[in-house]
Amino acid sequence: MDVAEAVASRRSIRAFRDKPVDLETIRRVLDQARMAPSGCNFQPWRATVLTGAPLKALQGKMLAAQPQDPIEYSFSEPNASPLHLARLQDVGARMYGALDVKRDDKQGRHDFARDNIVSFGAPVLLLCHFERFMGPPQWSDVGMWLQTIMLLLRGEGLDSCPQEWMSLYARLIKAEIGVPDDEQILFCGIAIGYRDPAAPVNNFERPRVPLDEHVRFDGWE
Ligand SMILES: Cc1cc2nc3c(=O)[nH]c(=O)nc-3n(C[C@H](O)[C@H](O)[C@H](O)COP(=O)(O)O)c2cc1C
Repeated sequence: MDVAEAVASRRSIRAFRDKPVDLETIRRVLDQARMAPSGCNFQPWRATVLTGAPLKALQGKMLAAQPQDPIEYSFSEPNASPLHLARLQDVGARMYGALDVKRDDKQGRHDFARDNIVSFGAPVLLLCHFERFMGPPQWSDVGMWLQTIMLLLRGEGLDSCPQEWMSLYARLIKAEIGVPDDEQILFCGIAIGYRDPAAPVNNFERPRVPLDEHVRFDGWE
């Protein structure tokens, strides 16, 4: 698989097959992802990767808990911008349409969102956390590392779903995996596994803004 194929075939998978993932494969991907770039070569990323019993134990605790208050960080600021809110609403309508959950079915939407807790059935969960003193440039570096991982996973025939939802349970998660809450922030999870290719939720179209609406080119004749 070349890079363009990896980019084109990656999508957020929300229905996984019940098939384990080798530790060796995960280690190979994370080892290769170490070459992701970062400002000043700080390499600000950290992660804890769970499968099997520790993952089930964590999920059990999250299922029995409520989202934390106060929140770990806000991922919803762009909702105040009509342009960005419209993008969220568009992809949301397509996803819930694929799931056949109606617009006014608040419970149905809530129940599917809660499937985030079990990472949509993924057998592996990468939890991404790093020092609280990291600023926006380092958060951006972490994003590059995560995308590098998600593309390398495609090269291994694997799939993923990034999950900022995990930040809703950040304190509980950090207590469970032994990460000090006062020192580190929990950014997100990455659900990892093999996609169910037939699931409609893995097949709806995700719209994107046309290139010339977000990039300007200058200097060509
Ligand atoms: C940092 C990050 C966090 C995300 N968190 C969630 C999440 O908690 N739950 C979820 O279902 N999707 C989550 N997504 C997936 C986005 O909704 C998805 O990337 C977007 O709708 C575009 O779709 P695509 O990934 O299939 O191309 C997240 C994506 C990113 C990059």
